Amino acid sequence: MRNWIFAAVAAAILAAPAPVMAQAPIIIKFSHVVTNDTPKGKGALKFKELAEKYTNGKVKVEVYPNSTLFKDKEELEALQLGSVQMLAPSTAKFAPLGVKEFEALDLPWLFKDDAAYDAAMKGPVGQWLFKKLQAKGITGLAYWDNGFHMASANRPLIHPADFQGLKIRISGSKIADRYFRDVGSIPQIMAFSEVYHALQTGVVDGCENTPSNYLTQKFHEVQKDITVSYHAHLQYAVIVNSKFWGGLPADIRGQLTKAMAEATDYTNSIAAKENKDALETIKASGKTNLHYLTDAQKVEWQKAMRPTYTWAKGRVGQEVLDLIAKELHVLM
Ligand code: LMR
Repeated sequence: MRNWIFAAVAAAILAAPAPVMAQAPIIIKFSHVVTNDTPKGKGALKFKELAEKYTNGKVKVEVYPNSTLFKDKEELEALQLGSVQMLAPSTAKFAPLGVKEFEALDLPWLFKDDAAYDAAMKGPVGQWLFKKLQAKGITGLAYWDNGFHMASANRPLIHPADFQGLKIRISGSKIADRYFRDVGSIPQIMAFSEVYHALQTGVVDGCENTPSNYLTQKFHEVQKDITVSYHAHLQYAVIVNSKFWGGLPADIRGQLTKAMAEATDYTNSIAAKENKDALETIKASGKTNLHYLTDAQKVEWQKAMRPTYTWAKGRVGQEVLDLIAKELHVLM
């Protein structure tokens, strides 16, 4: 009898459907420093949506915006250590990774418009820079656009001399450090998350950034005068740790690559409009004075900042400058 019961129970167990062992999803922590309501913030959320869809939930993307997980410098260290898997820092912040060459993209008045920027980054320049990154154990997946920088302070910045003696926050690039010195100001590197407070309390007098960043960080509320100078460009590189990326199953990596390509097209397609709308909102807020440079004033800025080009050769090397010059049909 006992044997019979045992056999019946064993048969029931064998006949029961095997419990479905839920496979834990692969987690991608995507950290960045701007709000969700910016081109980069929206791009990160679009990537999350597409990555989770294309991998059928096998990948879960956790987006941490607005420096909630890491600040600028920390996030790069975290990527190298593997405590975060994906970032999209401004390329002006890449020197600590050992790739100063990216700073060539910060040269003032380099790209005459969005189309020039696009052509350079989609051509050999963008790929050449990603190769440099690969040698450091970091894989570049895409470039995301965020338009051109404005400059601001609590006084109108119309002529180069207006910068004299001002402490200006910069994000990291030595090229930006140089062009702000060319006009007599004192640049200071500072994490993005600290800028609003530093402007408000007078730790720095001014800064540069794109309209979407001014609006979403409320910089325009603590700067009396903003010059819509568009003197330099802000772009991001979406990067991953190469070990992490190479260690993913090939099918998953393919699905993520597709998600990234589509998120990139989306981000780059909204960047110009997002910045245009942000500028309109800043204007309508009445909280700051917007200034526009005449062509002659632009030439004054260009002349004053020109020494940065000569200096840049020693910083970023001739090779990347030649590549850019060729792509843009300009002389450097
Ligand atoms: C900055 O630090 O000013 C920018 O790089 C922030 C960003 O990511 O747009």
